[in-house]
Amino acid sequence: MRLPLVAGNWKLNGSLAANRELLQGVIAGLPAAGVEVMVCPPAVYLAPTAAELAGTTLLLGAQDVSTQDQGAYTGEVSAAMLRDVGCTHTLIGHSERRTLFGDTDDVVAAKFVAARAASVQPVVCIGETLEERQAGDTMAVVRRQLGAVLNKVGVDGFAGAIVAYEPVWAIGTGQTATPEQAQEVHAAIRAQLAAADAKLGDRTRILYGGSVKGANAADLFSRQDIDGGLIGGASLKAGEFLAICEAAAGTDS
Ligand code: PGA
Repeated sequence: MRLPLVAGNWKLNGSLAANRELLQGVIAGLPAAGVEVMVCPPAVYLAPTAAELAGTTLLLGAQDVSTQDQGAYTGEVSAAMLRDVGCTHTLIGHSERRTLFGDTDDVVAAKFVAARAASVQPVVCIGETLEERQAGDTMAVVRRQLGAVLNKVGVDGFAGAIVAYEPVWAIGTGQTATPEQAQEVHAAIRAQLAAADAKLGDRTRILYGGSVKGANAADLFSRQDIDGGLIGGASLKAGEFLAICEAAAGTDS
C-alpha cells in the first residue's frame, strides 16, 4: 500500500513569527498515523523550520532546487545545501516555476538529477493549462512532462520519487478538479509509470494539487490513484491543513 502524503507548499508567504505560529499549530494536531505530512517553506526559512520540526514526524521540503552543484550561479540554492539544512524533499517543476520562471521539461529533468544526486527526493509537478485541457491535450501534456524526467533517469533513477498532478487551471483559483477528472489523469500517470516498470506503477505516490481544502479533500483522496495532496493556500492555515491531513489519514487502510 502507498502511504498518503500531504505536502504544504507555502509559496512566497510567511515570516519567522508567522511560520512559528503555523508550525506549532500543525505539529500540535498532526495525525498519529496513516499519513506523512510535509511543509515546503521559502528557502530562507528552511533552516529555522528544520529547527522547529526537530523531534516531530513532520517532513521538510524545498520549493525548488538548482540544476547546479556549486559555483558562479548567483541566487541559486543547490540540492546539497537543501540536504545540509535538513530537507529530505524538494518540489520541482511547479507550474509557477514553469510559467513564470521558464523551467522547461529539460530543466525540470536536470533538477531531478541534481536533487537525487544529493539524496533529496523530488516531487515532480506536472499538469495542463486550461487551454491545453480545452484542446483535449491533457493526457499528452502530462505524459510529455513526466516522460521528460522518466526518459532521462530511467526506472531505477525514478524509484522513490513522488509525482504531483496539478492542473494549472485549478491552482489558486478555487476551481478544484472533480475527483473524477483528477482520478482519470492519475490513472493515466500510473499507467505510464507501470508501462516503464510494474513496481514503479504500484509504488509511486501521485499527489493531487489545485484548490484542495478540508471540505473536498476526503472525496479526492478516496480515489484509487490519488495518494494525497500538494496544498497551497490551505496549507497556510493550521486548522484547514490539518483537516486535509486527517482526510488523507482516513484513506490509509
Ligand atoms: P492551491 O495551490 O492549493 O492554492 O491551489 C496548490 C499548489 O500550487 O501547489
